[in-house]
Formats: sequence, C-alpha cells, structure tokens
Amino acid sequence: MIRLEGLEKTYRNGGLETRVLQGIDLTVKEGEFVALMGSSGTGKSTLLNILGCLDVPTGGRYLIDGVEVGGMDDAERSRVRNEKIGFVFQQFHLLPRADALANVLLPLVYSRNYPKDARERARGLLGLVGLHDRMHHTPGQLSGGQQQRVAIARALVNQPRLLLADEPTGNLDRASTTEIMELFRRLHRAGNTIMMVTHDEDVAASASRVLRMSDGMIVADEVRQP
Ligand SMILES: Nc1ncnc2c1ncn2[C@@H]1O[C@H](COP(=O)(O)OP(=O)(O)OP(=O)(O)O)[C@@H](O)[C@H]1O
Ligand SMILES: [Mg+2]
Repeated sequence: MIRLEGLEKTYRNGGLETRVLQGIDLTVKEGEFVALMGSSGTGKSTLLNILGCLDVPTGGRYLIDGVEVGGMDDAERSRVRNEKIGFVFQQFHLLPRADALANVLLPLVYSRNYPKDARERARGLLGLVGLHDRMHHTPGQLSGGQQQRVAIARALVNQPRLLLADEPTGNLDRASTTEIMELFRRLHRAGNTIMMVTHDEDVAASASRVLRMSDGMIVADEVRQP
C-alpha cells in the first residue's frame, strides 16, 4: 500500500539547511499496524506528514497504492489525502463550538460528493468509539480521551485506506491511553492499516510491527506476533 524509495526531506530556511530524512526505504502492506518510535527530533512527524500528504519530500519516491505522490500538485495531493488518509493528532484539533457529531462530519463537508448517509455514518462511528451518548457534547464537555475518540471517528469518516496518528496518546492519562489503544487494536483487527508515532513502549506493544528511527533513518524494523 505504501512504498518509500530513498525518501529525503531537507528543510531550507534562508541559508540554513536541515537534512531531516536521509533516504528512507519502506514498504507497508495493507492491514499492518505499524508503530514508529525514536527520540525527539529524528524526523517521525516529518515522515508521517509526508505519508499524510501534508508535506512533500525533497528527494526519493513515495507511492501510495502504486501511485507516485511526488509529481502531484497541491490540489491532486489534497484529493489523495481526502480520499485515502485519516489523520489523528496529539492535540485533538476539534472545532470547539461544534458538537461531536458535527466534528466527525467535517471532512465530508469538504469532500466532492457528500454521501447521502453521512449523518448515519458519523453516528455509527461515534457508536464504534463508544460515544453514542455523547453525540451532542462539544469538545469542552468531553474528557481528553473522549475528545481523541471523536478525532479518531472523524479520521475514519471518509473510510480511508490508511490511518495515520502522531502521538495519539501523548496528551492522555493511562486510563484513556488504554482505551485508545484498545480502539486501535480493534480497528487493526477489522483490517485497517495504521501507522502511529509514539514514545511509549507500552503503546507500541499494540502494534504488529515496530520501526525505530534515528537521525532521519530507519534503524530497526521488528515484526511482532499478535
Ligand atoms: N519547518 C521546519 N524547518 C526547519 N526544520 C524543521 C522544520 N520542521 C521540523 N524541522 C526539524 O526537523 C527535525 C525533525 O522534526 P520532527 O518534528 O519530524 O521530529 P520528531 O521525530 O517528530 O520529534 P518529536 O518526537 O519531538 O515529535 C527537527 O530537528 C526539527 O527541528
Ligand atoms: Mg513529532
């Protein structure tokens, strides 16, 4: 599903060059649950943002479903993002004045064909993440773990091929972290492809494969038995 060949990212700010990704080769198959680990500043978010079509590489190739993303313009890239990718962030990025249902519906509002069953789909997803009785609560009326579950439902509403999560439990306590990881395991069992950045070995233990990055390279790649 994902193929990276010699992927590079160099930031240029004025005369200053920062080489962040230094030639990453990686294949991720449909249905894998990958945890991406590594110390701060090694390029995990940079890599995830490129995979999520939020940023572009400066070298190498990125193919999703066999299609090269590198040659695309902004509009084509956002179309790939809308059609294929769901993104979950550490800071949940929910609209504060909208209720849970409206937050989950949001990506569909931007999609080219608003599905007839949108509201039903959003309600179903809020049920899936255990929030059937919180549909009309705003983020301020929800706990951190509940807000993250709304954000996960929102990421799934476009039925993405790939779910990306950057430290999804980074702002959560133990109990909420356990809930979110149970949800990710359930999504994995249902066949979703997931790539998640985490600093937490306990969180990474839910994944079927663990990648470790150091200085912009993948230095370990371990497949785990479920
Ligand atoms: N826009 C930018 N311009 C210049 N350098 C940047 C930019 N964004 C990120 N970097 C640099 O790229 C490196 C990797 O950043 P990145 O956010 O990918 O790290 P990370 O592995 O996600 O770290 P953390 O675990 O702290 O989230 C860092 O050294 C950072 O300073
Ligand atoms: Mg990061």
